[in-house]
Amino acid sequence: METVVSGIRPTGNLHLGNYFGAIKNFLKMQDNNNCFFFIADYHSLTTHPTPEDLHGNVRQVLAEYLAVGLDPEKATIYIQSDLPEVAELTLLLNMNAYLGELERTTSFKDKARQQPDNVNAGLLTYPVLMAADIIIHHAAKVPVGKDQEQNLEMTRKFAARFNRMYNVEYFPIPQPFNFGEALVKIPGLDGSGKMGKSEGNGIFLIDEPSVIRKKVMKAVTDTGPTELNSPVAEPIANLFAIMSVVSKPETLEFFKEQYVNCNIRYGDLKKQLAEDIILFNEPIREKIKEIADNKDYLRKVVSMGKEKAHASASKTLKEVREIIGFKPF
Ligand code: TRP
Repeated sequence: METVVSGIRPTGNLHLGNYFGAIKNFLKMQDNNNCFFFIADYHSLTTHPTPEDLHGNVRQVLAEYLAVGLDPEKATIYIQSDLPEVAELTLLLNMNAYLGELERTTSFKDKARQQPDNVNAGLLTYPVLMAADIIIHHAAKVPVGKDQEQNLEMTRKFAARFNRMYNVEYFPIPQPFNFGEALVKIPGLDGSGKMGKSEGNGIFLIDEPSVIRKKVMKAVTDTGPTELNSPVAEPIANLFAIMSVVSKPETLEFFKEQYVNCNIRYGDLKKQLAEDIILFNEPIREKIKEIADNKDYLRKVVSMGKEKAHASASKTLKEVREIIGFKPF
């Protein structure tokens, strides 16, 4: 069994795009690998959340991931800050991370542009903390989207550098776990592109029916087909794509045929789509609420995860300290 590590940012809620993309893959991975999934709350401090927001966000994100099927019996699910060994490993790795390479990281440059009044050292060393997250469990694989590829490249560099510096083969060099074609991309409601949390074009798993109706009714469409068999424009193809995962196949066929025959009414299509999304989301939304309110369960999950993650991390730190030359007197 290969060790897989993935961090989850405690910001935003899960949307349908996440559900049919990354989540599906997490669920597959936890069946076949030794998975460590953690909520990256240390990382989130770079944007200075209030203490209430910090805890609330972590709890909500944890509840959502558990509700969609992340299984604490199969994977080690923990909170990053429950593992202070990660902070220690970061400090040690920082000694071999160079200002130039950190400054050149795309995510650092982006953040520095987005929050020019808060270009803190945590932002600069974000990839070092991420490397520590990954190599602390000797991960072989890390599932990454496009936006995290460079950070993983840095992890590989830092792991190799440590090995070279101390002339050991201690840290495995983690490989990106690329879902590639297998990833179902759910488009957004704004006519083009995929569903995302920052784009404001998404439907969240926790959205109430009234919110879903409003969002779907506002989805971008076009002026409609004008001749038989005209090609389906992107905004409409997007609505069909969402329909293909939440509606019955007959429903999708019905509207596609209406499109081809030029008698489609987008209002009807949207009404149907909204109701189907509502039905699809309902059990998940209920489950999220139930778990978020179940303090005992959350406490149990978190303490189980902490224990398992700690066993793995403390062994690494003990060995790393020996390799570096911290010796007992
Ligand atoms: N940087 C990742 C993101 O923004 C989150 C993350 C933190 C992570 N540590 C990680 C992902 C380790 C994979 C492995 O999404």
